[in-house]
Amino acid sequence: MQLKTQVGIIGAGPAGLTLSLLLAKFGIESIIIENRSRAYVEARVRAGLLEQNTVDLFKDMGVGERMECEGAEHHGVYLNFDGVRHRVPFKELTGGRCITIYGQQEVVKDLIEARLAQGGEFFFEASAKSIEGIEGNSPEIHFEQNGEKHNILCDFVAGCDGYHGISRQTLPKDSYNEFHIEYPFSWLGILAHAAPSSDELIYSYHQRGFALSSLRSETVSRLYIQVPNDDKIENWTDEQIWDELEIRLSNGSDFKVNRGEIFEKSITPMRSFMIDNMQHGRLFLAGDAAHIVPPTGGKGLNLAVADIRFMAAAFKEFYTNGQEHLLESYSQDCLRRIWRAQDFSNFMTTLFHKQSEHGSFEYQLQKAKFDYIGISEAYKTTIAENYVGLKEI
Ligand code: APR
Ligand code: PHB
Repeated sequence: MQLKTQVGIIGAGPAGLTLSLLLAKFGIESIIIENRSRAYVEARVRAGLLEQNTVDLFKDMGVGERMECEGAEHHGVYLNFDGVRHRVPFKELTGGRCITIYGQQEVVKDLIEARLAQGGEFFFEASAKSIEGIEGNSPEIHFEQNGEKHNILCDFVAGCDGYHGISRQTLPKDSYNEFHIEYPFSWLGILAHAAPSSDELIYSYHQRGFALSSLRSETVSRLYIQVPNDDKIENWTDEQIWDELEIRLSNGSDFKVNRGEIFEKSITPMRSFMIDNMQHGRLFLAGDAAHIVPPTGGKGLNLAVADIRFMAAAFKEFYTNGQEHLLESYSQDCLRRIWRAQDFSNFMTTLFHKQSEHGSFEYQLQKAKFDYIGISEAYKTTIAENYVGLKEI
């Protein structure tokens, strides 16, 4: 089958879906190719922290109804270190901004539903195999579905196909530099039918390692612990996970972790990764295809959406005014925010994880940073404004 559209989008994650909806709002056609099934992408469990900018955009796009009902606004966060706790309040320090806790798979469900309701064109279980002709004016996406080969002729290709996708591999190797940090630890994350143990998120350094208490609803908790990279989920019984969470989050205090049935558990490695050019010719990358942040700052989804805001504006400018300047500056416009988020995500990761022996020089530096949070409004403000997401950058 030979298809034709204005923007061919590879990937139905938050990046590709947000793009298709924004383009529709601007009267620009698109088709989405996604190699997984709809059920799979709607059930894929990931983080769930939405910055103020992301929430505002979803509301503007008219896809925020369920998020406003079921998501929970948080106006502060608890930071623990060796049993000492500081709260960072957001509203006071950021002029009224806050975060919303709402699972990424719920966002994905809402976006798919909204796009389908508009009659948006999707191909699920369709795998993009190659992108041809990006240096000309009509690139093509070749994809396969049910063993049949198809192609889409487009004006532009949006590579929203995540870290393992083909889009980054299609960029000429000499058109970008790659930056990596592989951390020597992973996160063991659980979802459990248990009332949240705290009204706000808790990030905690403990001499046995990091722990994070988050939530999804009044009856579902989301919790994480730092584990070595070679650890296996089979090494942990549910009881051991709860015990470890309790030790790390209470740190000798009477804080109790509410326990319940664990219905999802997995181990995820942590990395910082990015490329410093996200485009070539008519191919433009967004989201995890171009950058990965460790989840300690909650930035992954928000960065993907921030890229798309620039990408959609650039396509709009091209189609309505024939101007290419926003297309040309796309990477540079995105990179400022991405580097800021890389720095903040790395800061939160190195502050709260156990990286070397308890009591070592590195530990003392972590503790000195933490103690500074307790005495400096300026430092708290820095954390708050990065955490809720800078409005403009
Ligand atoms: N053909 C079609 N689809 C593909 C291909 C391909 N060759 N390769 C990958 N995909 C799909 C994946 O199946 C996935 O659904 O691209 C999609 C990419 O979506 P995400 O990985 O969710 O990436 P993105 O939309 O950039 O969202 C970033 O996701 O990983 C989290 O923490 C991250 O929250 C962040 C968000
Ligand atoms: C989550 O709720 O899944 C979550 C929250 C904050 C993070 C990471 C993950 O920093």
